[in-house]
Amino acid sequence: MSPFQITRTLPEDAMAAALRADVLTGLTFLPKALPPKWFYDALGSELFERITELPEYYPTRAEREILVTRAGEIAGALPARTLIELGSGSSEKTRYLLDALSGLHSYVPVDVSDSALTQAGQALVAERPDLNVHALIADFTAGLTLPDAPGPRLLAFLGGTIGNLLPEERAEFLAGVRTLLSPGDALLLGTDLVKDEKVLVRAYDDAAGVTAAFNKNVLAVVNRELGADFDPGAFEHVALWNAEQEWIEMRLRSRAAQTVKIAALGLAVDFAAGEELRTEVSAKFRKEGVRTELDAAGLELSRWWTDAEGRFALSLSTVR
Ligand SMILES: C[S@@+](CC[C@H](N)C(=O)[O-])C[C@H]1O[C@@H](n2cnc3c(N)ncnc32)[C@H](O)[C@@H]1O
Repeated sequence: MSPFQITRTLPEDAMAAALRADVLTGLTFLPKALPPKWFYDALGSELFERITELPEYYPTRAEREILVTRAGEIAGALPARTLIELGSGSSEKTRYLLDALSGLHSYVPVDVSDSALTQAGQALVAERPDLNVHALIADFTAGLTLPDAPGPRLLAFLGGTIGNLLPEERAEFLAGVRTLLSPGDALLLGTDLVKDEKVLVRAYDDAAGVTAAFNKNVLAVVNRELGADFDPGAFEHVALWNAEQEWIEMRLRSRAAQTVKIAALGLAVDFAAGEELRTEVSAKFRKEGVRTELDAAGLELSRWWTDAEGRFALSLSTVR
């Protein structure tokens, strides 16, 4: 195998069909909503990287702190030969794991963003010519088939991205992860933790407006891919804490009554003044909740690490 391979498991027309279906459902039912995976074209992936560097966005720094201090322990607990990473993006924090896993044979990053995968994969093989990198352009919510690679395998899901799934989607996702794992493999899961509302809201509504640009990027994606005529300036970025569900919601609030045309769907969508389109939830977790959700999927939480301030957790769980 060459050191860097990239495989598209979802044909481009399947991705396009999925976007059409999500936009049709999401904009014709009330309240309006779109799934967050459509943020991540090349610009969206770049904007997300800028978010990770913002002073208000603590999750990346907190998770990096855990990886810096605990990567050796993680590698000791599961001396993986293959590291699979879902929603890998730039693979920036993954480097601590790659360094610590001394017997590693293959790294399998999985993402919907081909630009992020290509950039990250090329940089990694240049730095580590001994590592086999087999990138998969795939939707981790749509049933994954992994390439053959030697065990034991560590499946990492970092960045708190699991919080972008709704509770029933998380249950289905974790059950799917369980079927991908064999005895001796493990899941390394990053979860952002419940904390002060002001800290949480600031992390999704930064002073420089990068998160607002990221949020509105979904409108640009729908304009480009489906010939829609969204005016991003006609929508306002909103981030709020839903205390009952314990999640942050990002929304786009229509500044005035307006009608948006989506040519590829032959659809005209009315927005009332002040009407909101939900673009992301980001659930925040507590240890017992994580344990319960893992347990329901047949996974047993065996290790739990947090940063010094207790903002973010990494957990290791094994097949029960
Ligand atoms: C919140 S970012 C986290 C990136 C990186 N893991 C980190 O910790 O900084 C979410 C990543 O997951 C990817 N992603 C989102 N939904 C996805 C899906 N359904 N299937 C595959 N990748 C997805 C995005 O393209 C993005 O790279």
